[in-house]
Amino acid sequence: MKWQKRNNGKEMTTWQKLEQHHTQLSAQKLNDLFASDPARFSAFSVKLDGMLVDYSKNNITAETIQLLCDLARETGLEAARDRMFAGNKINHTEDRAVLHVRLRDGVEPQVQETLTRMATFTEKIQADANITDIVHIGIGGSYLGPEAAVLALKHLHHPRLTLHFVSNVEPSALHHTLSKVDVKKTLFIIASKTFTTAETMLNAKIAREHGAIHFAALTSNVEAARAFGIDDAHIFPMWDWVGGRYSLWSSVGLPVMLMIGVDGFRDMLAGAHLMDTHFKTAPLHQNLPVIMGLIGVWYRNFCNYGAYACIPYHAGLARMPAWLQQLDMESNGKAAKTKTGPIIFGEPGTDAQHSFFQWLHQGTDIVPVEFIAAATSPVGSDEQQRVLLANCLAQSRALMTGIENVAEPHRNFTGNRPSTTIMLDALTPHTLGMLFALYEHRVFVQGIIWKINSFDQFGVELGKVMAKSIETALNSGAASQQDASTSGLISHILKRKN
Ligand code: F6P
Repeated sequence: MKWQKRNNGKEMTTWQKLEQHHTQLSAQKLNDLFASDPARFSAFSVKLDGMLVDYSKNNITAETIQLLCDLARETGLEAARDRMFAGNKINHTEDRAVLHVRLRDGVEPQVQETLTRMATFTEKIQADANITDIVHIGIGGSYLGPEAAVLALKHLHHPRLTLHFVSNVEPSALHHTLSKVDVKKTLFIIASKTFTTAETMLNAKIAREHGAIHFAALTSNVEAARAFGIDDAHIFPMWDWVGGRYSLWSSVGLPVMLMIGVDGFRDMLAGAHLMDTHFKTAPLHQNLPVIMGLIGVWYRNFCNYGAYACIPYHAGLARMPAWLQQLDMESNGKAAKTKTGPIIFGEPGTDAQHSFFQWLHQGTDIVPVEFIAAATSPVGSDEQQRVLLANCLAQSRALMTGIENVAEPHRNFTGNRPSTTIMLDALTPHTLGMLFALYEHRVFVQGIIWKINSFDQFGVELGKVMAKSIETALNSGAASQQDASTSGLISHILKRKN
């Protein structure tokens, strides 16, 4: 392609080339791109171990990928990635390294020692008939990853243990959980990197007031866990170089290990490590986190799409969209010179087909979809699995091809709606590790292009501070110093309470 000169005769920047390329490509439909290239599927898909990523149903050509890779190179993606792996303090606002990859490479002695302690503890709990239930108390990154992983690997669960999660401080959450278990036969895991998070600390305190005696702590604040009264033998450390939303692979993964066993947890780490190695070594144009990250940049910054949908065709991945929301939106929902992280939403298919897929097919916004499925299922019937996969493939095809119906506009499908399909051979600890690490690195790639720090989360602080003074007003009943709306709501609540 011959690029026009812009900027007073100067060569166009890669960003400007991408803008121009977008204008030219918008005339071409996905259907046309497939019609003109019989090899499109193999050209735009990558197979890595037990995972196939088909990104051929995206509005891109080889030139799009080439330009996006140029942009990544010019932005210094490779050097930034290497700085992360080397342990440089790339989280500069908090002066911290970002080393979740170190949790899964089998190298760091303190990580290995903690894993060994977790394994011994797991074997002890699994063998102890006096423990029937586990209640995991934690929120955000100290909850979403473990919950998503435990649900995904249900077919591997220990037959005797039942795991419950309590994240919300809303009173019924802990209340109903406590009413289901025998507290004396329940292990309470308090997961909090900081061991100061208000919701988690209050729920832990109330659990103890209700007679809980068996406690474990997963935290980087060992002193605070001791001060809470937890025995050193049951405190499993993590470190300041593990971000909360990247902490599934640390001691925060203990409930996963307790439910699927030590080998299963190690397989999950190995799967994530395989993706780390791929991210570190594969050329940009064959590198899954890079390709997916750049396609996201393409849609956000050049096509101006403000959202993407994560649709796992697997009941076990029902909590993956929630995990991904924190991972992506807490990491990349930040101010920059360009548009940054989009909205993420999702629900498992086929359920989602019977809810918001109408909007995906005929709504006025284009939302790229990421379909995730497993080719095989270890449980259930072949027929169920066949129907599931047929639906998954049909949805991405229908979004792309559409169908014209001039006579009945309500039956018209414009099509040309993009999607990516991630097909796992099976949903196992290994492929789950690969999948989650793929998304972690994709977020990193986009953060570099957008020139933001993906590893802090100052946006959650203001509300936390304000909650303290509002709680004081709700407690004392004293006139509050808030704005008129908040004060009005406070006095409304207090009247109901009285
Ligand atoms: O919501 C803010 C946040 O700091 C998240 O980043 C974190 O995952 C969550 O709170 C829980 O924090 P902690 O593990 O320290 O309790």
